[in-house]
Amino acid sequence: ISFSKTKKAKFSSQKSLVQIYTDKPTEVLTFRGMLPNPTIRIKRGENFDLEFTNRLPQPTIIHWHGLIVPSVMDGHPKDVIPANKTKHYHYKVDQSAGTFWYHTHPHARTGKEIYHGLSGFYIIEDDEEKRLNLPSGEFDLPLSIQDRRFDENRKLFYKDKEVPQDNNGVLGDVILVNATPFPYKNVKNRKYRLRILNSSSVRTYNLAFDGIEEFALIATDAGLLEAPLMVKNVIVSVAERIDIVIDFKDKRIGDTVTLKNLGFKEVSNLKLHPKYPDFDAKMDIMQFHISEKAEDTSSLPAKLVHIPRMKASEAVRTRTITMEMIAGGLWTLNRKPYDMYRIDERVKLGTTEIWELKNSVHMGHPFHMHGVRFQVLDRSGKIDFPTDKGWKDTVLVMPFETVRIIVKFTMPGLFLYHCHILEHEDQAMMANFFVE
Ligand code: C2O
Ligand code: CU
Ligand code: CU
Repeated sequence: ISFSKTKKAKFSSQKSLVQIYTDKPTEVLTFRGMLPNPTIRIKRGENFDLEFTNRLPQPTIIHWHGLIVPSVMDGHPKDVIPANKTKHYHYKVDQSAGTFWYHTHPHARTGKEIYHGLSGFYIIEDDEEKRLNLPSGEFDLPLSIQDRRFDENRKLFYKDKEVPQDNNGVLGDVILVNATPFPYKNVKNRKYRLRILNSSSVRTYNLAFDGIEEFALIATDAGLLEAPLMVKNVIVSVAERIDIVIDFKDKRIGDTVTLKNLGFKEVSNLKLHPKYPDFDAKMDIMQFHISEKAEDTSSLPAKLVHIPRMKASEAVRTRTITMEMIAGGLWTLNRKPYDMYRIDERVKLGTTEIWELKNSVHMGHPFHMHGVRFQVLDRSGKIDFPTDKGWKDTVLVMPFETVRIIVKFTMPGLFLYHCHILEHEDQAMMANFFVE
C-alpha cells in the first residue's frame, strides 16, 4: 500500500487461514487477511495515516522498526490497545530512504506474534535515491526471511516442549521467504535490487548465492551506503536489513541462481537440540530462474549518498550496557529484569553519546534501539561486518565482544532498547530510555 494525502489505510490484526503449502491452509495472524502482509511504501515528507484495530483476543500494538517518530506513535509495549479497540497512527515521515519494517510489540508476546505472521515491510523513498536510478518497480524485490516449524497438518508451532533451548531462541527447519517455503522467482537477465529482512526469531543468516559470485551491498538498516560495496556474502542477524544489487546479465535463459544461507556460528558453546537445524546449518533459501532477456536501463552509481561520520569526540558521554544471563536463566541488559514503566537511561535531547555494548556470554545478541539511527564506532571482535559501514538501528554483538555505537538523540520521549532475538526481548533483555 502506498500513502498519499487523500488515503487513510486500515489494518486489523486478525486470525486468518492462508495457503502456505498447496495441500492445506495454515492458521496465521495477519493485518489484512493474507500473507505476506502489505508492503508500505511512503515518500519522505508524506504523512503516514493508519487506523489499526486489534482483532486479537489479547492486547497488542504495532511498532515501526527503524522509523524515528514521536514516542506516542512508536508502539511501546505500555501503549498496547485492548481487543477490539482502535489506534490512530499519524506522523510525518522525515528520514532518508531505506528498508524498514513493522511488527507488533506487546511485552512477552512479540516473539509469538511475529512468528505467526504479524510483520511486514515499510519502505521509505526520497528524491535523492530516485536520482540514482537504481533498479525499481518490478526489479525491486523485498524479501522477508523467516525460519519456521510446521507439523504434519501444516500447523505452525512455536515453542516445542521437548526443546528447552527454545528459551534461547526458536530455530525452525523450514525457511520462508515472504511466507512461502523455498520459493522461486522468474527474473530477467539484468540488475535487481533485493531488500532483505531477517524477520526470524533467532537465526542469523550468512547470505550468498550459488551461481553469482559477487553482488553489491548498497544499503544497511537505516539507509544507503556511501558507495556500493562488492561482497561475496553478508551476515544478517535478526531485524537487520540489507539492500543489495545483483546482476543476472551474464546468465543465460534457463539458468538458476540460488540464494542460500552458508550458516553462521553465533554461539560458542551452547548445546543444541538435534531436532532442528543448528545455528550454523547450511540451507537453501530461494531460487531465481532467468527466464527472459531484458534491456537494463537502471544504474549502479559508484557514489550513492553522503554519510556524515560521527566522531567519538562529539559524544558527551559513554554508557555501558551489558548483556548477561542472571540466576534463573533470564536474559537481561545490565542484570535487570524488564519493567516497562521504569526509565533506565535518561538522555539529553540533541546530544550525541557512545553506547558501549558488552556481551559477556557465549551467544551473540542483535542490539536494537527505537527512535534513533546510529553508527558503529568499533568492535573488539575479529569479524569485519560490511554492514558496520552504514546507518544502523540493529547491530550484532558477538559472544564476548564489545561494540561501541555512536548515536544522536533527535526525538524526545520514551523509547526502547533491546536484544532483537525475540525470545530474549520477551524475557528481560529490554529497557527504556527517555530523551528530554
Ligand atoms: Cu523490531 Cu523493538 O523492535
Ligand atoms: Cu524497533
Ligand atoms: Cu539476546
